[in-house]
Amino acid sequence: MKSVALLHASQLVTLSGPKRPRIGHEMSDLAIIRDGGMLIRDGKIDIVGASKEIGKNAGDAEVIDAGGRVVLPGFVDAHTHLVFAGNRLDDFESRARSETYEQIAAAGGGIWSTVEKTRASNDVDLLAQAKKHADWFLKCGTTTVEAKSGYGLTVEDELKILRVMQRLKQETPLEVVPTFLGAHAIPRELRESDYVDLVINEMLPRIASEKLAEFCDIFCERGYFDIEQSRRILMAAKKLGFKLRAHVDQLTNCGGSKLAAELGATTADHLERTEQEGIAALKSADVQPVLLPGSVYALGSTHLRQGYGGQASYPRAREMIDAGLAVVIATDFNPGSSPTVSMPMILSLACTQMKMSPAEAITAATVNAAYSLNRGDKIGSLEPGKRANFSIFDCEDYRELAYWFGFSQVHSVYVRGKRAH
Ligand code: NIG
Ligand code: FE
Repeated sequence: MKSVALLHASQLVTLSGPKRPRIGHEMSDLAIIRDGGMLIRDGKIDIVGASKEIGKNAGDAEVIDAGGRVVLPGFVDAHTHLVFAGNRLDDFESRARSETYEQIAAAGGGIWSTVEKTRASNDVDLLAQAKKHADWFLKCGTTTVEAKSGYGLTVEDELKILRVMQRLKQETPLEVVPTFLGAHAIPRELRESDYVDLVINEMLPRIASEKLAEFCDIFCERGYFDIEQSRRILMAAKKLGFKLRAHVDQLTNCGGSKLAAELGATTADHLERTEQEGIAALKSADVQPVLLPGSVYALGSTHLRQGYGGQASYPRAREMIDAGLAVVIATDFNPGSSPTVSMPMILSLACTQMKMSPAEAITAATVNAAYSLNRGDKIGSLEPGKRANFSIFDCEDYRELAYWFGFSQVHSVYVRGKRAH
């Protein structure tokens, strides 16, 4: 493969720094190189520096002229539900009429309606739709996604979804990190305890032996899986070698963040209802918070009587950063609560609604997210030895990414040094 020289980034936002997730003030340091460039060999970053230096070392490399635009590492989206069939347009319209997520679920919409469509869909159709989603991610500058199962809820349907993820990884430039989320909802045909047993005794061992997922996740919430059930499932997963992520404190604060800390989970996700005590618990075990402002926004949860019911708000990002947590932000892309693949939209929400600075938001969407996926040594920053995953944006200052909103500033996207969009 021919070498590639990227030249003339107005700002090459490298995020180079310590080889661990960034906390506190470190989240504000993007290690920007003005008029920066990179030399790329075999899909990996070889040299990073001033364009002049790179130009001197370029030899016969193919040149990509960034033309005075901003260059960033590819976004790493550490929380998505990428594989599902259909959409939830009816739920969306009902919410606009002020029905709550819980009322809609009780009336036959919600997660269950997507489960029915996903079960009825064969692997070919599911893969075709997943490829469309993958293309959307790439178009928005995201080069790695974590993807959760959870719309199958039978052994065969969960396996079908996880196998679609494997094919997606092989057949598109998007890197996919698979997570098993069998405990997303209780299927209508089973009693709660029987389903928990099925997850523990059949799903987890099968998925472990076929190596179909790296992480195990759970929706720990009133009406879904309680603390005891969550503990049993996550402990069984841990014994089988899965690393843990968990949906906690989204609708109610029922102690999920403490459970995530107790079990040494890699991440605790959502945290809209988490208070000081939960934040301290996460810190005591160095669990990374994954904040999902897109779901608060799309559910209209900050409006009384809307969203999930009652007044919910954005998670307390500032308190978490001040507490020394290595905050991550992600889209939560799913058909119900967060139908967006756009990390730039999440940057905007992080700054306007959670009062993160643009630099903190970018750190949370790249290098911190990469560490939360166990890939901090390979992606998330532009440093020698890492994959040449990067995007060029049609602006001159990285803060513009979070400032302008509602339209795309993506110019082009590269995965392992090759144009992917
Ligand atoms: O992260 N909270 C649970 N799961 C998703 C919603 C999934 C859905 O509504 O289909 C979430 O918000
Ligand atoms: Fe989610």
